[in-house]
Amino acid sequence: MEFEFILVQAAYAPHIALVQLNRPKELNALNLQLMLELKKALAQLDEQDEVRCIIITGNQQAFAAGADIKQMESKGPIDLLKIDQFETWDQIRKTKKPIIAAVSGFALGGGCELAMTCDMIIASETAKFGQPEIKIGIMPGAGGTQRLTRAVGKVNAMEMVLTGKFIGAEEAKNMGLVNRVVPEELYLDEAVKLAKEIALMSPIAIRLAKESVNKAFESGLQEGLFFERKNFYMTFASNDQKEGMSAFVEKRRPDFKGN
Ligand code: CAA
Repeated sequence: MEFEFILVQAAYAPHIALVQLNRPKELNALNLQLMLELKKALAQLDEQDEVRCIIITGNQQAFAAGADIKQMESKGPIDLLKIDQFETWDQIRKTKKPIIAAVSGFALGGGCELAMTCDMIIASETAKFGQPEIKIGIMPGAGGTQRLTRAVGKVNAMEMVLTGKFIGAEEAKNMGLVNRVVPEELYLDEAVKLAKEIALMSPIAIRLAKESVNKAFESGLQEGLFFERKNFYMTFASNDQKEGMSAFVEKRRPDFKGN
């Protein structure tokens, strides 16, 4: 896959795809084209049976320093309405395969929101998370007030969103924003390790389980439990369920085929 602002390796490791945000001079600021490319790449990877888990990363200095301020600077609300950039984000959220954000350096504004749109976050010790939009007279627009609040609780989200302060990786971990913090040289390896663990499971069950956890995140408990139950029953329509349970009973490793 050829893109200008992202690098995509569909077979970075067995069953694992890597998408690297690649505007290093601009600290991976998320311009419209980059986001469209990301949407397209994720949709393509979602269609490939070989891919079971996707990692999105930046570079050591920056995951992404936010939406591209220079591109937005002169825009008015009607321009934004017409461009409707967040529709791209909705599509990214709908990716069926699990996505791990491997974050080093800045994950700010839209960068933090992109990491939170992923399913899990592995952070390097140097990662810095923040929603600094308030400092440029706006507020988060790609889910920051919603996802951050659900992840770290009201008072922490309120402080970050209202002051624009950055938090370090350890603080983010303590707040429940990231899964783990590892030395800078290991953050991508750690994400791959996690992706490999997930790739061993039934892709069908993984897809339905991801949907269900997201449902818990996005809805009330009753609706979420009902949704989860239906998806649980649906796993029993797969050969992978039969294989997984037979393997357990026969005391051998399962060989999941994704059907
Ligand atoms: N948009 C456009 N360009 C950006 C950018 C952004 N979000 N972040 C950094 N850059 C550019 C800088 O303009 C600079 O370019 P030039 O060399 O051409 O001047 C280059 O990247 C390097 O940045 P700095 O010189 O500023 O690097 P630094 O190390 O001194 O500071 C930083 C790093 C603290 C991250 C600082 O760049 C910064 O504050 N960036 C903006 C962060 C921000 O406000 N993000 C929110 C954006 S709005 C948003 O995301 C809305 C939404 O919800 C979708």
